[in-house]
Amino acid sequence: MTFDQDLLTQLRDARHGVVFTGAGVSAESGIATFRDALSGLWSRFDPMQLATPEAFAADPELVWGWYESRRRQVLCSSPNPGHIAIAELAKRLPQLTLVTQNVDDLHERAGSRDVLHLHGSLHYPRCSRCAAPFELAPAPRVEATEGRRLAPPRCLQCGGAVRPGIVWFGESLPVAALETAFAAAADCDLLLSVGTSGVVYPAAQVPEIALHNGATVVHVNPDPQALGGTDEWLLAGAAGEILPALLQAAFQD
Ligand code: APR
Repeated sequence: MTFDQDLLTQLRDARHGVVFTGAGVSAESGIATFRDALSGLWSRFDPMQLATPEAFAADPELVWGWYESRRRQVLCSSPNPGHIAIAELAKRLPQLTLVTQNVDDLHERAGSRDVLHLHGSLHYPRCSRCAAPFELAPAPRVEATEGRRLAPPRCLQCGGAVRPGIVWFGESLPVAALETAFAAAADCDLLLSVGTSGVVYPAAQVPEIALHNGATVVHVNPDPQALGGTDEWLLAGAAGEILPALLQAAFQD
């Protein structure tokens, strides 16, 4: 796999890099994306049925059961070479900010630190009534059983139903994480956008802010349709293949 020398130089010499990831970076770990035509989660489930506060209020057992099956799937998965390359890149640059739309912990398990989760996390549920955090027992490492209804646990403080710590459609993103992500995008000199369709805002603004501030923006995605405009770099391929090869070429390991 060969890369443009100018791109390699820009990556190697970057002062502040931002990596912005979506579900595609976890695809090679076996975690379904949302919009891939064949396997995407939304092609099998109606997001309005599962990923809104109204859906949880209407049927907490369906929603809790679905997110628990996704959490169990993540617990049974491992970081892939794409996650590992991103953690390695942080050791090569003076500053790296990792911003993810993903709710799994595969970046952290690959060694990344201070990951900015714009859409929450499967691992940090909270009370739907008093917002108290709820400590989940580590799920048995069993195969995910999609679509199983499960009664959500009860809050130890107020007895309210515990909800997934996910940002649902119609809900606000965590302000601190979003502001930090936007500030990093406005400051960086290179942004790698990895495995995202870039269709969900405000998260999808991150690469746009970087481009507007004059940074080099590189998309890593096997779907040529999902990639950026003419003034952005396009590396068409799987993150688990492209990212390790890109780092090796840039840092001549
Ligand atoms: N490597 C890199 N990219 C990949 C890979 C791979 N191995 N496999 C698939 N992709 C790409 C797909 O081509 C697609 O463009 O990853 C992208 C995944 O897009 P989506 O499924 O839309 O996921 P994402 O962009 O993360 O969705 C954003 O939408 O539903 C909400 O909250 C949810 O955070 C999610 C947000």
